[in-house]
Parts: sequence; structure tokens; C-alpha cells
Amino acid sequence: EGIEIDLRGEVTSTNTVLKELAEQGRPEGLVLIAQSQVKGKGRLGRSFYSPQGQGLYMSILLRPELPAEDSLAITTAAAVAVAEAVSRVTGRQAMIKWVNDVYLEGRKICGILTEAAIDFENGKLNYAVLGIGVNILEPPGGFPPEISETAGALYREEAPADTRTRLAAEILNRFFGFYRALPEHSYMDAYKKLSLLTGLEITFQQGQETWEGTVLGIDNEARLVVRLDSGEEKAFSAGEVAIVKK
Ligand code: BTN
Repeated sequence: EGIEIDLRGEVTSTNTVLKELAEQGRPEGLVLIAQSQVKGKGRLGRSFYSPQGQGLYMSILLRPELPAEDSLAITTAAAVAVAEAVSRVTGRQAMIKWVNDVYLEGRKICGILTEAAIDFENGKLNYAVLGIGVNILEPPGGFPPEISETAGALYREEAPADTRTRLAAEILNRFFGFYRALPEHSYMDAYKKLSLLTGLEITFQQGQETWEGTVLGIDNEARLVVRLDSGEEKAFSAGEVAIVKK
């Protein structure tokens, strides 16, 4: 089975359009790349700023033969693929901020949003749409104020020719390599090594609850292992992390 790339101009959201194509029965390996998105979606109902020509906005259709809970592994493998691809293309080391934000020089340059459709008859994934957004260039007027503290791009004013294409190719090659061997978790060692948070003091938030502590690392289930200030060791599987600035 191969990869088919569908290039679009402006779309609502590559995830939304690809989900429609998935519902029409299109096969695994269909990749949608857009010039811009007017309704780019982020995690937790946020929007993803996706101006024309400034980034790579890409979604990948997958039909994995896996239990639904394994869809988490798709996102984790994608984060490794993006971090490695960005490092390769820019020559600078990208890192992963748990769970799946990719950072370069202290700023978030990529977000990943996986949307899955589950078949309730057998508990299996019907399909998953893996959405990857990479900021290649800083927008001329800067990022919108609500993300200007954290957002960054691979380049300031000008990117080397073909950056978007090279980045897409490097990401797809790496991701499909991991994906074909997904149950083996071949990306996990790299995921641990690329962890931006390891060794840092953080505050952790889950709903109304917050904790403070130091990140010890990431375990084999991709949980964030934290030494809490109380001395207790705790492994988190979901939540929001803030780095404590000193
Ligand atoms: C996040 O950081 O919260 C996730 C951002 C995911 C953005 C990508 S861009 C391509 C795909 N289409 C979308 O609407 N979202 C994802």
C-alpha cells in the first residue's frame, strides 16, 4: 500500500476534510496538505493558527488494525517523527514537550491532533485522522497575542527553498516506519530521549487538581513520571504541564 498526497489551497481544517473522505471509504495512506486553514483545530477545543504559506498543515488517514486504546501510540510516534524531521531539516535539535507538542529553542513549533472514529460493535478503530501542524515561518506581524508567549517557527523571515516539501517527506517516511511496527513501540526510546520536560520543575494540572514536582522521565506507557514536592513519585497519563520559571 502506498501514500497518496492530495494538495489543497485553503480549507476549513485538513482534519475535517480528511474525516469526510474517510467516511466516503478512502483508503489508509491518503494524506491531505493545505496552504492554509480557516478553522484549524487544536487540542482541547482550541484553534490552530494556520495562515497562508507559513506552515505545514497536514492530515494522514489511518485504518489501523488495533484496539482503540492504541490510538495514543499513533500520536506519540508522530511526535517522534516530527521532532526528528525538524532536527534533520533545520540542523537544530527539536524536543517533545509531553504529551505531543514539538519544541525548538524553547518555543512550540508543532502541534498534533489525532481524531479517531471507533466502531462500537467491536471496539476497534474504524479510522484515525492524524493531524500535524508545523509553523515554518513566523507570521509577518508576529503570532496572535494569545499564543505569542509560547509559539515559534522554524525560521524567522525566510525559509530555505522546499522546506515544506522536505519536511512533509521526512515526517511521512519516519512516521510510516514507526506505524508499520506500532505494537513494537520502536519509537519509545527516541520519545524518552527527546523529552523536553525531563529534569525540569513543573506544575501539573488535571481538572481542578494541581501538583508540583520535578520530572524524572517518561515510562514505557508514555506516562510522565514526576517526583512530587511531597516526596511521592507519581505517573500521569493525562493533564497539562507548565514549566516553573526560575
Ligand atoms: C495542538 O497543538 O493543540 C494541536 C494542533 C494540530 C494542528 C493540525 S494542522 C493540521 C491538522 N488540521 C487541523 O485542523 N489541526 C491539525
